Amino acid sequence: MSLRKAGKPSPTRLQPPRERPLIERRVVPAPGAHRPRPPAIVALEVSKTYELGAIRVRALRDVSLQIERGDFVAIMGSSGSGKSTLMNILGCLDVPTSGRYLIDGVDVRELDEDDLSDLRNRKIGFVFQSFNLVARMTALANVELPLAYAGVERHTRRERARQALASVGMARRLQHQPNELSGGQQQRVAIARALVTNPTLILADEPTGNLDSRSTGEVLRIFAGLNEEGRTVVLITHEPDVAEQAKRVVQLSDGQVVDDHRTTALASSPPQLRAQKSARHAYGEASA
Ligand SMILES: Nc1ncnc2c1ncn2[C@@H]1O[C@H](COP(=O)(O)OP(=O)(O)OP(=O)(O)O)[C@@H](O)[C@H]1O
Ligand SMILES: [Mg+2]
Repeated sequence: MSLRKAGKPSPTRLQPPRERPLIERRVVPAPGAHRPRPPAIVALEVSKTYELGAIRVRALRDVSLQIERGDFVAIMGSSGSGKSTLMNILGCLDVPTSGRYLIDGVDVRELDEDDLSDLRNRKIGFVFQSFNLVARMTALANVELPLAYAGVERHTRRERARQALASVGMARRLQHQPNELSGGQQQRVAIARALVTNPTLILADEPTGNLDSRSTGEVLRIFAGLNEEGRTVVLITHEPDVAEQAKRVVQLSDGQVVDDHRTTALASSPPQLRAQKSARHAYGEASA
């Protein structure tokens, strides 16, 4: 026998209509729709002190630096001025002794080791002076490595590595090992490896330090192209003519920022591409 009497309305129907919905629905704007996007990099009074027994080395002293998305910044300074120390902190490879560091608006202190390595894998591409390629592995296998770490399936990572190598003009050297490549070619493989995860931020520590002037030009053209695509590029260099290819130059001395000036507007093409474009333009006018 049914417990509910026929004809008796169910208790829910007797309740008065709600004035407010049971679940409040907030309209969530699409990411970046209203709020301005945070800068790519914000360092606030960042200091780094190395302790070696009784010796303390103050490698960075209260460095505050903001880098907008899409900027191309050269960091200059004499040997020992703290450039690599700063780069390691910007790339989340090291942590400041004091001060705060935010990447895309996220304070890295709030991230655990897993989040940090995920962030390094997805957002940041590193390029070093000494290339840091794995010997006895082909160019293709070297470029596949970051994707393998990220768990990308074999066929896909091979294809993406091929594309990255082609984008730096190395499509015909896929099976070469590092010792079968010139310095400039090795650096282009290293750039392909940095690019293959499609990072928004490229950090390069003296990427042309071991290269002749022709290879330096090739590598700088690649960086200019990456910046033109909207990526943020931070490049350490000793060479003034390399720094001239950036849009902004930051000078470090003794662990402090002593000069910071913009040479090219943030929204403009980097100097090298501008020069190329205007040369093409001039040629077009002359030949018309
Ligand atoms: N792991 C470390 N332990 C102790 N001291 C360090 C360490 N790394 C760097 N230093 C010291 O910190 C200071 C800054 O070093 P850093 O490598 O940042 O200089 P740099 O500007 O990159 O120099 P270079 O142009 O020669 O590469 C130097 O005095 C260096 O000796
Ligand atoms: Mg250095």
